[in-house]
Order: sequence, then C-alpha cells, then structure tokens
Amino acid sequence: MVLKIVFLFGKLFDSRRSSQLLIGIASLQLLTTAAFANTPPSFGLLENVTVAAGEVVEFSVKSTDIDGHVPGLFVDSAPAGSEFNDNRDGSRTFRWRPNASDIGQHRMLFVTVDALDASLRFSQSVFIDVVAAEQAPVNSGVGNNSGNSSANAGNVVSDSGLQVVTGELVRVDGNYLPRINLASTVVNAPADQALDVIVSATDSDGPIPALVVHSLPSGASFNDNGDGTRSIDWTPLPWQLGQFRIVIVAKDALRDDHRVQTELTINITEAQINSPQANNAVVPTAVPTAVPTSIPTAAPNLVQNAPIEQQSTQPAASNNDSSNRPPFFDGLTNQVVALGQTIQFVVAPRDPDGDVPGMFADRLPNRSSFKDNFDGTRTLTWRPFPVDEGDYWITFTAVDARDDSIRTHQSIRITVENRGGFNFEPVINGINNPVIRAGDLLRQKVQPVDPDGEVPHLSVINPPEGATFADNGDGTRTLFWQTDSSDITEFGDSDSPHTVDFLAVDVRDASLRDDHRLSISVVEPSTRNRTGERLRVLAERRGLLIGYAAMLESFSLADADIYLDIAAEEFNIVSPENSHKWGWIQPQRGLFRFEDADALADFAIDKGMVLHGHPLIWYTQLPGWVLSMDLAEAETIMYEHIDALVSRYRDKVALWDVVNEALEEDGTYRNSVWFQAMGRDYISKAFVRARERDSDSILVYNDYDVAWTGPKSDGMYRLLQSELDKGTPIDAVGFQMHLWTDFNDFGDVRDNLQRFANLGLDIYITELDVAMTARGQEERQAQVYENVVRICLEQPACKAIQSWGFTDRYSWRYNYRPLLFTERYHAKPAYYALQRALSR
Ligand code: XIL
Repeated sequence: MVLKIVFLFGKLFDSRRSSQLLIGIASLQLLTTAAFANTPPSFGLLENVTVAAGEVVEFSVKSTDIDGHVPGLFVDSAPAGSEFNDNRDGSRTFRWRPNASDIGQHRMLFVTVDALDASLRFSQSVFIDVVAAEQAPVNSGVGNNSGNSSANAGNVVSDSGLQVVTGELVRVDGNYLPRINLASTVVNAPADQALDVIVSATDSDGPIPALVVHSLPSGASFNDNGDGTRSIDWTPLPWQLGQFRIVIVAKDALRDDHRVQTELTINITEAQINSPQANNAVVPTAVPTAVPTSIPTAAPNLVQNAPIEQQSTQPAASNNDSSNRPPFFDGLTNQVVALGQTIQFVVAPRDPDGDVPGMFADRLPNRSSFKDNFDGTRTLTWRPFPVDEGDYWITFTAVDARDDSIRTHQSIRITVENRGGFNFEPVINGINNPVIRAGDLLRQKVQPVDPDGEVPHLSVINPPEGATFADNGDGTRTLFWQTDSSDITEFGDSDSPHTVDFLAVDVRDASLRDDHRLSISVVEPSTRNRTGERLRVLAERRGLLIGYAAMLESFSLADADIYLDIAAEEFNIVSPENSHKWGWIQPQRGLFRFEDADALADFAIDKGMVLHGHPLIWYTQLPGWVLSMDLAEAETIMYEHIDALVSRYRDKVALWDVVNEALEEDGTYRNSVWFQAMGRDYISKAFVRARERDSDSILVYNDYDVAWTGPKSDGMYRLLQSELDKGTPIDAVGFQMHLWTDFNDFGDVRDNLQRFANLGLDIYITELDVAMTARGQEERQAQVYENVVRICLEQPACKAIQSWGFTDRYSWRYNYRPLLFTERYHAKPAYYALQRALSR
C-alpha cells in the first residue's frame, strides 16, 4: 500500500512539467462533538499595554458566544496583586498597579471557556510592559473622545489621592495634554446616601481645561465648586441600584483635539435601612417550560411611595412645560429565580399625564427575551442556566412621549439562586437530514445533550424496517439502516423522505423530554452520476493532483457511503480538515487521538490518494493546555508534537503544512503563542525538525489571502526568501484561496505565483472554495474555479489544487455554498468547469 502511494506521488512529482493538480474536498464539522454544533466563545482583540511603574493599568475583557450562552472567563498567569473583577455583564475588568520591582514584560493569558463544553476555548495573550515612570508613553487618552467605554485599549489610570488619572505629564506636538484628577475611579455607595465626587482638570501649559461628563445617572448633576474643581452630586433613589459608568472628558482649552478621558464607576448597593421584603420575587412555580405570566403588582418597598418627579433626569421644575410629568414604571421590583425555573414579568412604563411612554432595557441577560405586547408594555422572559447563577442588574428606561429628554431609569436586580434539585430537559440537536443512495448503509449517530451534564435516555420511536439502534457506550447511539431500491423517496424534483423520530428523556424526570424528527432521502444512485471523466483521471493526465479536505470522522457520517465514493472517484490527494489539528489530535500533553487520522491515512492508501498533512504548527485550534503553557517550554512542546505526528505518518503523509498562517494581514508576524515563545525562529525550527523526522516529505508553508499581491503576500515573500537564504528546508508554498464569486484579479494571481515560483518553491493551491455572495451564482462560481485551475496549469511549479471540501453540505462556509457538489450531492457547474479546464 505504502509503495503504491509513493509510486503515484513520485510519478506525479517527477514529471516537472506543467503542474500537478489536486482538487481537495473538505469537510465541515466542528472540532468538538460530531452531532452538536457548538461554536467556541471569543473576545475582541486585546491590545498589549505599556504602563509606568506606580500607575494603574485597567481594561475590560468581554467574552461572547454566538450560541447565546454566557462563557466562562479567566486570566492565567496574572501578575501578583492584579485584580480581575466581574462586571456582571459578561465582562471583567483587569486592574493592576505595578511598582518599580515589576519593571519588565509580563505576559498574561485570557481564556474564555464555552459554557456547555469546556473543551471549546478561545484565548489570547496580552503583554504588559512596565517601564520606569519617566519612559511612560504618550498615553492612550489622546483623541479618545468618543465616550465609548470599550476600554480594550489599556486605559492608564491612577487611584491614589487626588492624583493624575491619565498618566504622567504628556506632551504632544509641543502641547501638554490636560490631566484629570479624581480621588478614585471606583466609588461604592448605598442608595439614599448623598454622593459628592470631586473632579478637576489641570493643564501644565496654564489654560484651564474644559471638563465634560457623559452618561450621568438620572438625578445626578455636575456642579462647579467655584474653586477650580467640580462635583458630581447625586443621591441615588432606592431603585437606582447596580453599576453606573460616567465618562469624564477633559479638553485642552487651546487644542480641541487634545482630549483625555477616564471612566468613573459608581456601584450603588441597596440602602441600608430598607424594607425586609426587598426581594419580593415573583417566580412561577411550575418547572420546565410552563411559563405562567405573573405581573408584579404590589411593589412594597419601591416605586409606589417614591415621588414620581424625582425619577426624571430633568426635574420638572427645570422643564418649560411644568404640566408634563415624567413617566414611571408600574410595580417593577427585584426578582429572585431558582435554577430550573422560568421568570416572566411585564415591564409597564406609565405616564401620569396619560401618554404612552417609550421604553428600552439595558443589560438584558443572555438568552432572555423582551417581547413587545403591543400595548405599551413588554414581557421579559428568562430561564437561567446553571452557568447563570448570581445577580444580574437590568436597567429600564422610560422615555416621555412628548419630550424625550424626560427619562426615568429604574434598575432591578434578578438573583439566580441555586436551590438544588433543578433539572433541565435534554435536547437533541445538530442532526442533518441525510441524502443517501438506495443500497447505501445509513449510519445516523444521535447525541442528546442535557445542560445539567447528565446523559439522557435515548430511543428511536419508528425505525425503518430492518434498522438497528446501536448503543455506542458513550451516551450516543447510531441508527444503522441498510437501504435498497424499494426505499427510494426522490422522484424527479419531488421527495417524500422517510421520517424517523428520536426521543431523549431526562434521567431523573421522565416528563422532561425532547423529540427530534429526522428526514432521510433515499435517491436512485444513477441520479448522482456525473457525465464526462472523473477529475482525478483528467488531472493525472496533466500531471496534476486534484484533491479535497476530508471531514472529521468522515467514516462515521450518516451518508458516509456516498461521501466516500465521490471522494475516492474524483480526487487523488486529500487533507484532513480537522483531524490533524492540535486541539483534536493532542488534547492533553502526550495524549494523542490518532484514530481518525489513521483511518484517513488507510483510506488514502487504499484509494491511491496522496495524503497532505495539515497543519503541524498553527496559532489556533490549539488546546487550552498549549495556550496556557509556560512559554519556556514551548519549543520542547512543539518538538514533541512534530515528532509524534511526522514520525507516525512518515510513510503515509507525502507533504506537510509545517507552519500555517504565521502572518498578519499587513505582512508582519502574527503574535501567536509560538511567536511569543521563540520569536520568528519558531518557523525555521519547525521546518528543520520536520525534515529531521522525515527526510522525504514535502514541507509546505501555508497561508491565506496571499494569492494576490499586497502587504501580506509581500510579507510572505520576504519571509520565505529569508528562510530559504538561511537554508530552512521549505519546499513549497500553499495558497489557501478562500475566495468569493466576485473575485476577479486573476492576472495578479498569475504574476504573484510566478514570483514565488522564482524562489524555487513548488506551489500548491491548498484550500480553494468560492463563496457565493447571492443565490443563483453557480455559473459565476464555476468561472472562478475554472480560472484558478487554468492559472495552476499554466504555472509549472503548481503541483496541486485542493478544494476545502467537496459538498456544500459539509462546507465550513456552508451559508455560501462554495463547493463543487450541492448539499444533495449533485455535481454543480463548478464541477464541470473543472472538467473543462483540465481537459483543455
Ligand atoms: C477550518 C475548518 O474547515 C473548520 O471545520 C474548522 O472549524 C476551522 O478550521 N484555514 C485553515 C483551515 O488552514 O484549517 C481552516 O479550516 C480554514 C482556514
């Protein structure tokens, strides 16, 4: 077998003529579980920060999950004495005051963890350079006058005494920036207590800076004390609880563009003398999905006794129209909800003048809904998950119908309590409706998920005749069904699929259940035949490899038969779409999951396909233990990984993407964990090591957005040129080519490939797919594919074309249907365009 593949490979590559083509096919499939689509959480890019010893560095980190869960967030290797405080809105604020003994560079790792699957993580390093006070940089306050408090930019503040908040004396263009003086950037106080926060601004050039505040809470005012200072005066009302952020901006009196800003956080806790019934929660008693509507009526400690006028930002007295009274909220109170319960209440703004006020809510919990009742009220419904335990503050604002400067804010607290005994219903999701040929064996894996972390019971209600439902011993089951021509459901354009219902039942409470219906289309096999010759036959004739990327666990796909048949018939090179990736293959140090990669290697050998390993060293899809490793160990860990993979597949993998995506869009080095540990040398080290472990395989540097000219492609050119000059064993360059149908710069691509060929490198088109910007662009898509193949055929150094998958059904860009076959396995115009291009 090994000989066979080496022979094929040798044959294709020894002929130095016009090229070798491979079309790749890829596979979608999230890296985690086969049947449960769950996207890892992420946070916005964090910037590195420079801070002077003695000052405070502070920035917020907010993690989000597009699946709607609240992800976990923590910081690893934070410097001693730093804090990472929960802002209770999904974000945390990192805060640290280094001292002189901390001068130097500090690396921290911020990690966010998926709420439902702790193996899904996203992490990023941040470096803090602590410098001596006199070296402090022109700081981040400049021009930052947007009032936007996203605070990722490393705002430098100070909090001791009435000190400079925004850093050391800073001079920009010969002009000193103003400085804001504040005793503290965080104030904690109970409601009902009068607050007086003194603020001043100074400017070393002499003129007195203008001071402005944004987002004052309702009822607060900003007053001149007549002594060069100003005060934020505020007596919070009993319901004005939670966190309020006020942005203070100082503008240079002479230079309007010279501004600094800082954020003052005021945390208001409940007034000490208060009704014991403060938490008069209104919570439905029924458990899972039953959601009784409960409109809080009596508001024992709150609104009813409050003088309505005081709730307005604009006291009635200062309003021209004194007959216009501000709106208020009817019976809005704090709430308590136990895990497992659903809370639901109506938020009803009222206006004593009889108008219907406008309304909006701030800081709604994730996964809650706030539905319009079309009667001037909205209903908030929320069913917290175990990850939501704790206190949530929501601020509602009612806006006067006649004068929108008259607003009333009211904050309420929702306390999510863990009283034990809660129980969530299981869910079956992530199942595609398969399309298989009559005669194929259906293998449908079903995995129910329970937010409680339990494994539900699973059964099939109406299996097709002759089907079995095997227990895989890991909480999943697989429905096996051998079909034949009497099962066909597709006739021309019409399809009446077989339906099968699965039922998941909670292990502790049989009334908690989820049923899921699967539709199985069975098609007449000849309807999936392609006319003309197979792509690999045509490609081999041109001395080219044509390939695909293989789905993770493609051998256990429901429709594995048709998937694998098409793959084997059409392609002569394959990359694993995910199964070589670090997070999958080495999830813990020294623990390798080779099963899927081994199965693919056997398949490739059996089908006479070249196996393209992908990737060894990459910045992402890394497991948490690598992201949080001690950087001093990174080189050893990198070698362990290369040794394990390259040695194991020495006779099977013909080419390796040794380093993937090492560059940023601007052509500079990406600040990956490898770069942080070893600088740019990690690249040559990885290639040298791979060569030591396998002297025969072709070693590839692979990247995206480099097929056309531009800063990134220029950066890659410089990188490869200097590595080759140093003697780094790089044999080839991989161009990913994730394109869109409007791509048109083919001349540019041709010239760009030529300059890399001139470096003596072979060229591989490694991850081609062409996303459609609108439906119905199949012909345009075909054109793009055809042009790319032509460029490769014209370029003697171009050895292969691999598309990143072959059926839209499993594309990582599924929404844009970018591949050669439809979701139902019909060849698309792009497929026939490849035939044409390869036959020419
Ligand atoms: C993608 C896979 O297609 C997805 O299934 C996975 O979730 C994320 O990675 N560049 C690469 C590939 O080098 O490994 C990426 O593959 C796509 C971008």
